[in-house]
Amino acid sequence: MTLARLKHIQYVKNVDDATSRQSFEYWLSEHLRLNGMYWGVMALVGLKSLDTLPKPQVIEYVLSCYDAKSGGFGAYPQHDGHILSTLSGLQILLIYDSLHTIDDKRAQITKFIKDLQLPDGSFQGDSYGEVDTRFVYNAVSSLSILGQLTEDVVERASQFLVRCENFDGSYGMEPGAESHAAQVFTVVGALAIMDKLHLVKHDKLATWLSERQVKEGGFNGRPEKLPDSCYSWWVLSPLTILGHQNWVDLARLGDFILGCQDEEIGGFSDRKDNQTDIYHTCFAIMGLSLADHELYDLEAIDPVYCMPYSATQKIQKWPYAGRE
Ligand code: FPP
Ligand code: ZN
Repeated sequence: MTLARLKHIQYVKNVDDATSRQSFEYWLSEHLRLNGMYWGVMALVGLKSLDTLPKPQVIEYVLSCYDAKSGGFGAYPQHDGHILSTLSGLQILLIYDSLHTIDDKRAQITKFIKDLQLPDGSFQGDSYGEVDTRFVYNAVSSLSILGQLTEDVVERASQFLVRCENFDGSYGMEPGAESHAAQVFTVVGALAIMDKLHLVKHDKLATWLSERQVKEGGFNGRPEKLPDSCYSWWVLSPLTILGHQNWVDLARLGDFILGCQDEEIGGFSDRKDNQTDIYHTCFAIMGLSLADHELYDLEAIDPVYCMPYSATQKIQKWPYAGRE
């Protein structure tokens, strides 16, 4: 099976068109709109076709989601700032080499993020209090893009992530929560950004991650669950960061992912013949790229930041020379 490249490009272009806007699901997902834009942008980056989207309108949309009251980005104009949409906004601006458009907001965005850290090192997503390792990743990645990671944030955040480790060497969304592959990406990604990967039990965790590959060739997120194309990214990115991507069968993973594409209208679903969506389209393409970007003629993706290397090369690496 080959990659239906042109269909996928068309699929991403159509996600936000007039017909889609008439659907009930479109409006139900308003709270995910800036994340959705990032998923679409990354799918096109992976397909080496970012020029398909009009850059001025993309930047304008991102800036229209800025919420001056909180200091962060919301998912949609007039929405409250949230750490999830703040990272997506910063990622899109960085990918488009347009971070200068928020030069006047950098201090407020940094304060918004740092104020969400709790004394135990965890992060809330917004002022309403939910805590999750996802938010630690989003805070750490966002601060790193802004060049604003500081020692106090790094020390407390990494200590919190250590407390999320389970007996199997893997990680859950908070201390004591069940191990879950997507949380592993957030923990390993955040620790990699903070130069704290020595805190991970490398072989034990890589073993748990490699056990996520099931007989169909795809990965599941937890033991006994069905494979799902998005876990191609959530599992393979931490395995790649740990240097153990060869502990799984990448060719069989690639075949599983290709089996999840809709060859007629484009896009990927979680499993063969299911309904496609932009989230699975993004992470299926990201997984294919990590598996073998040359074979599938895809852009190489940085497993730590889930952005192209052309963008992440511009990020100042922690620990900053000479520190704050
Ligand atoms: C599972 O979603 C995914 C997660 C819990 C991880 C999400 C990670 C972030 C928001 C951090 C930022 C990520 C990137 C790539 C920059 P799910 O349980 O809804 O998926 P599923 O239902 O398809 O299994
Ligand atoms: Zn999924």
